[in-house]
Amino acid sequence: MKKTIEDYDLNNKKVIIRCDLNVPIKDGKILDDNRIKESLKTIKYAMDHNAKIIILSHLGRIKSEEDKITNTLSPVANRLSKLLGIKVKFIDKTRGTVLEKAINDMKAKEVILVQNTRFEDFPNKLESSNNNELGKYWASLADIYINDAFGTCHRSHASNVGIANNIPSGIGFLVEKELKMLGDRLNKPSRPYVVIIGGAKMNDKIKVIDKLIKKADYVLLGGGIANTFLVAKGFDMKASLYDEQSIDHAKYLIDNYSNKIILPVDGYGSYSYKDSEVKKYCFLDNVYDSLMILDIGPKTIELFSKYIKRAKTIFWNGPVGVSEFHNFEYGTKKMCEVLKESKACVVIGGGDSAAAAIRFGYKQKFEHISTGGGASLEYIEGNPLPAIEIIDEK
Ligand code: 3PG
Repeated sequence: MKKTIEDYDLNNKKVIIRCDLNVPIKDGKILDDNRIKESLKTIKYAMDHNAKIIILSHLGRIKSEEDKITNTLSPVANRLSKLLGIKVKFIDKTRGTVLEKAINDMKAKEVILVQNTRFEDFPNKLESSNNNELGKYWASLADIYINDAFGTCHRSHASNVGIANNIPSGIGFLVEKELKMLGDRLNKPSRPYVVIIGGAKMNDKIKVIDKLIKKADYVLLGGGIANTFLVAKGFDMKASLYDEQSIDHAKYLIDNYSNKIILPVDGYGSYSYKDSEVKKYCFLDNVYDSLMILDIGPKTIELFSKYIKRAKTIFWNGPVGVSEFHNFEYGTKKMCEVLKESKACVVIGGGDSAAAAIRFGYKQKFEHISTGGGASLEYIEGNPLPAIEIIDEK
């Protein structure tokens, strides 16, 4: 068992909390603050226990000096201040005397947010390569390290593995909840266990389907992934997106798990990958003209609903259509509706499906919406997460 924040006496201690505050920001405005809100419980706990709190997070990827301008954590500091009801001091540096003095001057219950850890990635990729000296340096700023950044737990970076290597460590409440929901709940699911996989990137998802198809009773497929399976079945999907290289693999899965794999039967399409006015309906065994299928249709929703209604556990990863296009959000929105009505334990596995569910107003409706994209898939696949492995055992 890994140590948690509750295993430490935080009184007057300098505590680094690694959060995943990697939120979408446009022109300085935060578009979705879910990850910030999900980080509050651990930060508030540390405040209530008189810690001096130093928050570290990455934001985007930093490959040039210009990236630093658009990926400053400054707007996040403002939002965090509002949500916590205190002034969070933003330090626009990732190292040096300004940062060190600010930390040394801290009083209990105060919160500092350090500039984007990935500023250390340009020009020398020090954060992402888990540079030894950088991990040691950040560790030297605090007494205890708490990892609450589930979204980056599949990465071995200086701000997670590097620091934990050097000072006592534990996990925060968010990471604890993620491990419980994506691990225990889905490893011993109440049955029937239904998995819904959508999204476009077949390469990313095929490994997940391989793993989950053995555990699940049914796997419902949507999005570009479903197109690949439909092509594997011999359907002509015309201009629809599918992955040529995965067709044989999809054939193998259909041959071996035909009773588990449930494919869409109808959909909506257009003539290009655009949120254009052209929206055509068709059955998927008869895709006409040069249509590109971009969403599932009502008959598919009906079909999927039958499995969802009977399910006791549901895991969903990936939108079933191009949900960011207004014209093709129907399927993903309907899936949210159907899932909301189900009595099952519904876990949404981060990334685009989580963003869509939150955008469509379903944040509180499901048992768990993961804050991790890649991390949740790695964990579901059963791969060890380096930033968890390194945490001290109880
Ligand atoms: C995410 O958005 O999935 C996490 O914040 C990790 O980001 P990364 O893929 O840039 O490491």
